[in-house]
Amino acid sequence: MAHIVTEPCIGCKNTVCVTVCPVDCFHEDERALWIDPEECIDCGACIPECPVEAIFDEGDVPEKWMAYIQMNADKAPHLPVITERKEPLKES
Ligand code: SF4
Ligand code: F3S
Repeated sequence: MAHIVTEPCIGCKNTVCVTVCPVDCFHEDERALWIDPEECIDCGACIPECPVEAIFDEGDVPEKWMAYIQMNADKAPHLPVITERKEPLKES
């Protein structure tokens, strides 16, 4: 199991989530963040931080966003880690 970033993050990228992750498992591309499921320890700290409710426990991902489980696993390992907050792409 892991935690999963889903569609609301795309184009938002608030980045406050990275400040609470104890294992620095958020990775970023130009439009969104992705969690490496091999690194996430399922602490749950990031869920309440995200203002657009983009992060779910793998077991709670809404049906319409199930593809994001595989997308996080595929993308995160190939992208740089982000550990500090940045200017969001848009207000949320
Ligand atoms: Fe990081 Fe915990 Fe969120 Fe996993 S659940 S991404 S370890 S803050
Ligand atoms: Fe994205 Fe929410 Fe983090 S918008 S960058 S998952 S705080």
